[in-house]
Amino acid sequence: MILVTGGAGFIGANFVLDWLASADHGSEPVVNLDKLTYAGNLDTLASLQGDARHVFVQGDIGDAALVGELLATHQPRAVINFAAESHVDRSIHGPEDFIQTNVLGTFRLLEAVRQYWLGLGASQKEAFRFLHVSTDEVYGSLSKTAPAFAETHPYEPNSPYSASKAASDHLVRAWHHTYGLPVLTTNCSNNYGPYHFPEKLIPLMIVNALAGKPLPVYGDGMQIRDWLYVKDHCSAIRRVLRAGRLGETYNVGGWNEKPNIDIVHTVCALLDELRPKADGSSYATQITHVTDRPGHDRRYAIDARKLEAELGWKPAETFETGIRKTVQWYLANPEWVANVQSGAYREWVGKQYGASAEVGA
Ligand code: NAD
Ligand code: DAU
Repeated sequence: MILVTGGAGFIGANFVLDWLASADHGSEPVVNLDKLTYAGNLDTLASLQGDARHVFVQGDIGDAALVGELLATHQPRAVINFAAESHVDRSIHGPEDFIQTNVLGTFRLLEAVRQYWLGLGASQKEAFRFLHVSTDEVYGSLSKTAPAFAETHPYEPNSPYSASKAASDHLVRAWHHTYGLPVLTTNCSNNYGPYHFPEKLIPLMIVNALAGKPLPVYGDGMQIRDWLYVKDHCSAIRRVLRAGRLGETYNVGGWNEKPNIDIVHTVCALLDELRPKADGSSYATQITHVTDRPGHDRRYAIDARKLEAELGWKPAETFETGIRKTVQWYLANPEWVANVQSGAYREWVGKQYGASAEVGA
């Protein structure tokens, strides 16, 4: 079996669902350790209720005793670390949780895994993998014309979030170099797709548009992100887990660079087509430019050639097919959205956008 951390969050849950649904892995159980912060949501995993292949444990990756006990009991052949505080804007309002989980939590997890790995028999020890899921944000920001981030790009994290992820990447690297722990690291671009928490750009725009609220675009909206459908990220992780070279990092991306304002217009156009407004106006009339994010990175772009050339991975979705599926998923799943818009969510929206903005309230 495998141990997944953060498997009740957006990417981790998509990973668990895809893993157990796949012909290759479906018979290999998953232990899912998640703290269930505001971002963790068991509704996403509801289809696995009563499924013996999925063991959910609520807990913290920084709880060394709990992690040690889980490893000893379940004897996983791999640990895949998704658990993190993941939202840049929250890291600006309150960085401490990011240091706690992304830095200290990863350190404690690495130590617990190292102790477990040291106790394995020779063949299990050799086969064992620790895969750390990271982000392109560790590389910093690109100018308009600079080439996309390769794995050799220097680390230049700019936000508390990206600095904490960079720190965790360095710890993972050092645990391989110093202790020989068999690690793999993936650095992926912006994901989108089903079960994405509506504090992030694409799901926020969809839910606000449908609620008749403003669509808050930071600054001029010309910041560029490189978008990948979440299930393509999950397939890349499975590929790296199976065939990645020990100690290596692999960039994951789909060559889909887009300015934010284009993303928002695309979402609006899809909603105009799939759920037209009664008065015939476009959802784009709800777009409002708001104060920019402090220290906002201007451009990310991922060069995924290493993963493609070495491991033969390619994304299945184009941006056009993936964003259509995503908008359709949100239209088909209003209950999931309603359930995540808890009091804690409303509190965050008020803090970030101001009560008077009436965004998502
Ligand atoms: P998310 O915020 O949706 O989910 C994070 C999950 O981790 C939640 O279920 C939360 O409860 C859990 N968690 C938080 N702290 C924990 C702790 N101390 N112990 C155990 N569980 C804890 O995040 P996501 O978007 O699914 O991102 C998953 C991983 O992928 C993160 O490491 C993130 O840095 C990385 N990543 C995200 C993106 C993206 O676009 N979302 C892109 C590249 C990399
Ligand atoms: O690049 C990978 C990263 O992508 C991940 O490591 C992070 O975990 C993930 O949250 C994401 O970070 P971003 O900051 O790029 O994602 P977010 O959805 O918050 O914002 C995307 C862009 O949209 C960014 O340029 C900020 C802008 N934005 C965001 C929000 C929430 C707006 O203009 N308005 C908004 O209301």
